[in-house]
Amino acid sequence: MNLKRTHYCGHLNSSLAGQEVTLCGWVDRWRDHGGVVFIDIRDREGITQIVFDPETSPMDIAGTLRQEYVIAISGTVRTRPEGMKNVNLPTGEIEVLVSHLELLNKATQLPFSLHEDSPNAGEVDESLRLNYRYLELRKKGLQKNLKIRHDFLRSAREFYAQNNFWEIETPILYKSTPEGARDYLVPSRVHPGLFYALPQSPQTLKQLCMIGGLDRYVQIARCFRDEDLRADRQPEFTQIDVEMSFVDENDIQTLHETMMQKVLLEVLKKEISVPFQRLKYQEAMDRFGSDKPDLRNSLELVDLTELGKKSTFQVYQTALAEGGILKGLCFEEKESLSRSELDGLLKKVAPFGARGITWIRIKGPGDWQSPQAKFFDEGLKKEIEEKLSFNKPAMLFLMCGKDTMVNNSLSALRLDYGKRFGYTDESRNAFLWVTDFPLLEFNDEDKRFYAAHHPFTRPHPEDLHLFLEKNDKSSLAAVRACAYDLVWNGFEIGGGSLRIYNPEVQSRMFDVLGIGPDEAKVKFGFFLKALQYGTPPHGGIALGVDRIAMLLAGTDAIRDVIAFPKTQKASCSMSEAPSVVDPVQLTELGLKIIQKEIPKTT
Ligand code: AMO
Repeated sequence: MNLKRTHYCGHLNSSLAGQEVTLCGWVDRWRDHGGVVFIDIRDREGITQIVFDPETSPMDIAGTLRQEYVIAISGTVRTRPEGMKNVNLPTGEIEVLVSHLELLNKATQLPFSLHEDSPNAGEVDESLRLNYRYLELRKKGLQKNLKIRHDFLRSAREFYAQNNFWEIETPILYKSTPEGARDYLVPSRVHPGLFYALPQSPQTLKQLCMIGGLDRYVQIARCFRDEDLRADRQPEFTQIDVEMSFVDENDIQTLHETMMQKVLLEVLKKEISVPFQRLKYQEAMDRFGSDKPDLRNSLELVDLTELGKKSTFQVYQTALAEGGILKGLCFEEKESLSRSELDGLLKKVAPFGARGITWIRIKGPGDWQSPQAKFFDEGLKKEIEEKLSFNKPAMLFLMCGKDTMVNNSLSALRLDYGKRFGYTDESRNAFLWVTDFPLLEFNDEDKRFYAAHHPFTRPHPEDLHLFLEKNDKSSLAAVRACAYDLVWNGFEIGGGSLRIYNPEVQSRMFDVLGIGPDEAKVKFGFFLKALQYGTPPHGGIALGVDRIAMLLAGTDAIRDVIAFPKTQKASCSMSEAPSVVDPVQLTELGLKIIQKEIPKTT
């Protein structure tokens, strides 16, 4: 390569007119206008039009150029004649008249066009695009997203440095750190039959840093969780992982509000106000049916359990007698929902275990249209209307049954209809802290408690006596935690807690979780031991980098902000990982493959 780049393609403008420049990049588009060849040359920063004039330019090579060939050119910047300027292009006022051209590399025919405006751009199969991710990376949209991710991380890194945090790296080859998912395991060659676990998060390690007196730790940490994937989940993802000594919940929350404020200002040029709203978990569930409510949506759920007992509807009677709840979602039907849509409502809530849903069209006071209207007498209708405090004609959805099912169903409908009928202000950024989560969750299948956040979370001081002294299910289920989540527009973008720093409380936690002393010793012995050597009170948080980048970039899939994402099935279709390994490697590791029947997925 003889030509040396002087400018990025996207950085030229009319102030450089008359100047000699050298550009390097890819042939984006190619046009021949009666012997004068126009090429758009593209690099990461943008596109410039270059012109080959038969009088002065090297036409022989120019004629052989094709899309995505890699070239270097030098030439003179000139302003385009009036009428030829392209206002849609940042460099649209100028072009470069080429004097030298070097063909650096050819490209074979691409499997799909990189131009969003090409005739079948929208039809390219996702798996094909993932197979050729490096070509997708050439696209402007993906590059813009990755730049946003970079700007976000740079801004955040700077913030932590300014606030006295040390960036500390912790091992990837480690021991299981429970965060509620399965571990990815790595077999050891040196210790046949033994395994490392890739960290689900550096939770115990960052706490050990606090025991080690490091006071303020931060790490841009890769985490690995073998769990079912969704649009906002990847098996390996990145956290900004933070731990601080001698702090309370408010210190951690306030600091992170300022961090988000800086990030939004620097990355999106958007001002957000602090402090963020704080909502207790129970209130969030009551009002929105979700622990990550999208507060841009003004609809709220209404608890009608007590009034429901007065209805003659047998379904309600039975569910309420079994300890169920009745909740409603009410909104103005800005355009009438069709009968078939109302009949189809059940399909929307069936994934949450719902077996029925009542819809009632309240046309005016006491004027109810619904197949179930007959189960409500006039007095009850009036009481319900008053409770809804809704005086316009309205649509009311009622769900009765187990609280999780009711809340999950109605919160999904709240999002859906809130968006559809204009209750969601998408121009806003709604941040909030959800606090006072339950410490423990009871699992009906294996009849035991699991840590709602993770087993190192400190019980709420007001509930510590219950945690230490009671063993019955309802007392333990009522224990709150010093745990909080950060929510942005309905996405959980971070979660953290104050930690247990007393070894006895930590042992009690393992006990409550059904992890006996022997198992606790094998799994967490090193950690329990460390807690005995003067552990400072401490707490922290981890922010989901991919999710925050996704929201900053305004997309709804974290794949869009990850250079090389995994598919829904946790594989990399480009490199075909995971893949078979050489039998010699297996022998070295002392491993033998047992063929397992793989369940069929649709
Ligand atoms: P938690 O499990 O809540 O907490 O994770 C923190 C944040 O990480 C993001 N996140 C994910 N992002 C993409 N794909 C995934 N599979 C995924 N799982 C989680 C979310 C989440 O809010 N050790 C604790 C933190 C602490 O207590 O300090 C932890 O990992 O945005």
